[in-house]
Amino acid sequence: MSSEVVDYKGQVEAVREAFEREFGRFARFRDNEESESLALDEAEGLLRELSDVRTRHTAKKSALSQLMKLIGRVPAEERARFGQSVQLLNNYVVESLDKAQAALKVRIEFLQRERERVDVTLPGRRPRRGHLHPITLLRQRIEDIFVAMGYSVEDGPEVETEFYNFTALNIPELHPARSPQDTFYTTDGLSLRSQTSTVQIHAMQRRRPPLRVIAPGRVFRRDTPDATHNPMFFQLEGLLVERGINMGHLKGTLSEFVRRLFGPSTRTRFRPSYFPFTEPSMEADYSCFKCGGAGCRLCKGSGWIELGGSGMVHPNVLRAVRVDPEEFSGFAFGLGIDRMCGLMYELDDIRLLFENDVRFLEQF
Ligand code: FA5
Repeated sequence: MSSEVVDYKGQVEAVREAFEREFGRFARFRDNEESESLALDEAEGLLRELSDVRTRHTAKKSALSQLMKLIGRVPAEERARFGQSVQLLNNYVVESLDKAQAALKVRIEFLQRERERVDVTLPGRRPRRGHLHPITLLRQRIEDIFVAMGYSVEDGPEVETEFYNFTALNIPELHPARSPQDTFYTTDGLSLRSQTSTVQIHAMQRRRPPLRVIAPGRVFRRDTPDATHNPMFFQLEGLLVERGINMGHLKGTLSEFVRRLFGPSTRTRFRPSYFPFTEPSMEADYSCFKCGGAGCRLCKGSGWIELGGSGMVHPNVLRAVRVDPEEFSGFAFGLGIDRMCGLMYELDDIRLLFENDVRFLEQF
């Protein structure tokens, strides 16, 4: 190879021109701040393309790298000049790429920061807040009234043994409430409680009289669902056992309760009834909170609404928990929260309470 036949200068120029052709559209970012007009996705696209240009023009197999390798093979008299011009070209290429890349990166970082910047003057987005279920709202109102009257809130299991479900509540062996048609049985000897009256037994065992407790909770019955029945619903039990308690205390307590819940003009009436665990037993009604007793659609024209069952604690129940009925007497009552909730919110159907349709629940 001789210097006459190989145009070293021409080769360097050819490589420079090839680079310039491709780099041309990035050149404006190298020399000034023209990147300022670029949008984020444009700048990101250009940065990726610029990286391809760098690979094509500086990687091992690039024409520029070939020129570098050639330096050692150029005749000695040409080598210094050739080497210098290749080096200059290399510096120019690398510097051009670096400058354009830096300008694009600055622009991208700026735009990313802009996008993520919090504008403190924008109105905030209010988070959607949930709220308590209507049954919970009513339960809490009832609890507040009884707690103010000196009652404590008790809890009891939802799965019970025969003793708590039936025997201690003076429910005889062949009573229909024990039948599988009325009660959900789990495994032998265990069943889901069908009334919160079971907590009377737990409370007396735990606290021993004198005591005043209420026990709100879930109960289960094999009832077919309809507008006023669910197989799972909420009751609230009340139990007071002290010395010298009589029916007057029971009537006074329930009358005061409905006055505090529905207003001071609310009246009560009591009808004889039967429950195995109370003697005597009665159903309590209160005057309709909507019509005041005149009769309306809500109270089905009667002027009265049923509150629940009640009565004086049966001596056998006291004996079952080793409390002496000669020393202590008491009263108990049980309210159905779901039906009361249905009436208060004028729901046509208490099944709505458990459908968990947010459009319904949001209204309370
Ligand atoms: C009882 O459950 C007695 N334990 C109440 C009691 C307690 C009496 C203490 C004496 C002393 P009853 O079976 O009537 O009573 O039910 C009470 C209330 O539960 C009813 O007034 C009604 O509001 C509600 N209830 C009964 N069955 C259902 C049902 N399937 N769905 C929704 N609520 C119901």
